[in-house]
Amino acid sequence: MITYKDTSKDLTTDNVRGFFVGWPNPPSEETFLRILTGSDEIVLAIDDANGRVVGFINAITDGVLAAYIPLLEVLPEYQGRKIGTELVKRLLDKLEPYYMIDLVCNDSLVGFYERFGLPRATAMAARRFDRQSGIARRA
Ligand SMILES: CC(C)(COP(=O)(O)OP(=O)(O)OC[C@H]1O[C@@H](n2cnc3c(N)ncnc32)[C@H](O)[C@@H]1OP(=O)(O)O)[C@@H](O)C(=O)NCCC(=O)NCCS
Repeated sequence: MITYKDTSKDLTTDNVRGFFVGWPNPPSEETFLRILTGSDEIVLAIDDANGRVVGFINAITDGVLAAYIPLLEVLPEYQGRKIGTELVKRLLDKLEPYYMIDLVCNDSLVGFYERFGLPRATAMAARRFDRQSGIARRA
């Protein structure tokens, strides 16, 4: 069974393996935990059978008007079971008070996000692949 949590409390690097599929220079598991703890909102999908995180979504906000959804991923072996749908629904519920909710996605995912009432928009975006593994922890 899959259960959903909105905290990264008690997670270890062992629970969060396998994400960032296809990324040439992915964040480490330690860095992934920092992303989860540093986000304003997260929703995690957990496989009760083994305690493993099998899907996640996060948001960063200004606490007043704007929220941005940087990441959504479901592990390949768990895709197609509506876990991604549930993650987006739960996060959008949490972001309900916000005026602006933005995310950037590939063309192939426009239909997926339109199902949640998010219309297509134009975005400007920079991606610096040499920095894809994340900013090192500051001393
Ligand atoms: C996108 C993603 C999170 C969807 O997760 P999922 O749990 O497999 O999705 P669901 O089972 O909830 O799918 C719901 C519907 O969306 C469609 N869908 C799922 N992934 C899709 C994709 N990559 N492109 C287009 N449609 C997709 C499904 O076909 C399904 O349609 P149906 O209801 O007609 O069967 C998952 O494919 C993934 O992790 N992809 C790699 C990372 C990624 O692209 N993240 C998004 C960054 S913007």
